Amino acid sequence: MTRGRFITFEGIEGCGKSTQIGLLADHLRAAGRNVVLTREPGGTPAAEAIRAILLDPAQDALSPTTELLLYAAARAQHVHQVIRPAVKAGAVVLCDRFADSTEAYQGGGRALSHETIDILRNIATDGMGPDCTILLDLPAAEGLARTRSRGELDRIEGEPLAFHERVRAAFLAIAAREPERVIVINAAASVEAIAGEIGPRMDALLCAEAQEA
Ligand code: TMP
Repeated sequence: MTRGRFITFEGIEGCGKSTQIGLLADHLRAAGRNVVLTREPGGTPAAEAIRAILLDPAQDALSPTTELLLYAAARAQHVHQVIRPAVKAGAVVLCDRFADSTEAYQGGGRALSHETIDILRNIATDGMGPDCTILLDLPAAEGLARTRSRGELDRIEGEPLAFHERVRAAFLAIAAREPERVIVINAAASVEAIAGEIGPRMDALLCAEAQEA
């Protein structure tokens, strides 16, 4: 049985990660790999129910701490029910956002303490972390303009530009701290150019790891 892998996609609103993660899933499936495509918050019925609360603009009274705990609760269920079993079964798990988003949004955006965020990450992930992360980087103003052109904004998208600029800076700080895990890609390029960069890099990663295993 091939070794399972856990790959995450991260970035600010409007960076195009959902498109790119779908294209990578198609690419890997065409090569015969068993791919599980999932997202956070979400990926299980309970976590999707938590997502609905988190993104509902009517929930404008949620405190930053409540928000953090809800993202952590959704993640704990997702790791337990989907991610860990799939990786154990040998799948390539592609996840649209994971714990880096908490560090970027609740740490960078909401300015919650890194100590609290780390404690909750450890509880929620139970030691499960991505083997590789694709960070699609884009200026916050550009990402927000793309998001606004799609229609109504959810509770987080509706935050001001300065919030999203802090989120972007926090993502870039994670990438600078962990260059061996996080691949930064310029999300201003075309969909085809970005997919053309990600596909071969993931092929190389999965191939090298298969040889190591
Ligand atoms: P999505 O729209 O990319 O699916 O992500 C949902 C929103 O939730 C997005 O605005 C980012 C935010 N988010 C956090 O604030 N913290 C987290 O831990 C995660 C996973 C997402």
